[in-house]
Amino acid sequence: MEWFSPLFCFALLALLSPPHHGARALEFDSALARELLESASDSEFSGWLRSVRRRIHEYPELSFEERRTSQLIRSELDSLGIEYVWPVAETGVVATVGSGAQPWFALRADMDALPMQELVEWEHKSKIDGKMHSCGHDAHVTMLLGAAKLLQKNRDKLKGTVKLIFQPGEEGHAGAYYMIKEGALDGVQAIFGLHVDPMIPTGTVSSRVGPLLAGAGRFTVVIQGKGGHAASPHKTRDPIPVLSMAILALQHIVSRETDPLEPRVISIGFVQGGEALNVIPETVTFGGTFRFVSAESYAYLKQRIKEVIETQAAVHHCTAMVDFMEESLRPYPPTINHPTMYDHAKRVGENLLGKQGVRNDPMIMGAEDFSFYAEKVPAAFFMIGAKNETMTSAKGLHSPHFVIDEGVLSVGASLHAAVAMAYLEDHAK
Ligand SMILES: *[C@@H]1O[C@H](CO)[C@@H](O)[C@H](O)[C@H]1NC(C)=O
Ligand SMILES: [Zn+2]
Ligand SMILES: [Zn+2]
Repeated sequence: MEWFSPLFCFALLALLSPPHHGARALEFDSALARELLESASDSEFSGWLRSVRRRIHEYPELSFEERRTSQLIRSELDSLGIEYVWPVAETGVVATVGSGAQPWFALRADMDALPMQELVEWEHKSKIDGKMHSCGHDAHVTMLLGAAKLLQKNRDKLKGTVKLIFQPGEEGHAGAYYMIKEGALDGVQAIFGLHVDPMIPTGTVSSRVGPLLAGAGRFTVVIQGKGGHAASPHKTRDPIPVLSMAILALQHIVSRETDPLEPRVISIGFVQGGEALNVIPETVTFGGTFRFVSAESYAYLKQRIKEVIETQAAVHHCTAMVDFMEESLRPYPPTINHPTMYDHAKRVGENLLGKQGVRNDPMIMGAEDFSFYAEKVPAAFFMIGAKNETMTSAKGLHSPHFVIDEGVLSVGASLHAAVAMAYLEDHAK
């Protein structure tokens, strides 16, 4: 009979068979996401989040000095009954929630503040002169503690283990690198991280697949000449024109030597040299940063920066010492979102915030040491909106006027927890 064509049988079979794994995972995700967001938004929970964030905000600590912050994290984990390892990389804390069995999924927050004066006048302004949480890491710690509380509440439902990584020294000090060196990622299969973004509304997140943030390297240069009277330049080796020409020559590397379709930046951030109007100095110094999105570009830029500067110096009978400071200040790799992890976090984000709540924005040339984790395991990093309608002129990260809408704390806590729980659900044996 025509009716029982093979196609029809196949369709009937598909209708009668139970929903496949993907559909079940989706259902689980959206019910779970709603439940987590509701828990994290109730007034007691969000009040606790605010108080944690404000306590951290009042006592900002610089990279690898986060002792008080670390203490606060441990005491909150203690009261939640969550186990942790400490110290990891001096002040870092790695907590564990769940069965202890595989799969292991990691969530990460950074803890450090910046050496700058807070100019926002409010009740919980920084009490430490010259230090401020202007990159929102106080909110990151709080959101991860919020996730810890949600996960602990749901620990019987966890199909594996969640590691909560509280790391020091994100602001230029590669804290993530040292956390990994001390075992923070051991056994972990994938990782997720969040960064607050005061430019997009609370209740939205933003990211993209592939490169999201650039890698960053640094360099300082000493041009060695021979000083003397400014009226007799022929008796000197003037390092000042050498510095000028070297800086101009550097502008040609990105603009003339590299593919315009792959982003790269070289910027000079400081120049120093000379003291008197009539003296040619012995030495002058300058330095800057360079940005890239691949290991090849990193190697290329580094080699060319050195060559261009040394060659300019040699032409003018001076010498140059170019220092990439890699021992003390490790370069950051680019932050690359893994396609599968990106899709996972996006799907959970959409379940939590709706389709319009997950934005796809262009990459930016800022850098993040989350990239060290992303080099080791599949990773996704998302920006999370922290701007509400009353904040008409939001100030960017690292501004002395930086403020966030604390509503982000509940969203971030539940997103962290939902991404982790859904991952374990999908990957449980
Ligand atoms: C918006 O954020 C500001 C800054 O944190 C806060 O003072 C204000 O209460 C928030 N408004 C709403 C409606 O959430
Ligand atoms: Zn920062
Ligand atoms: Zn930051």
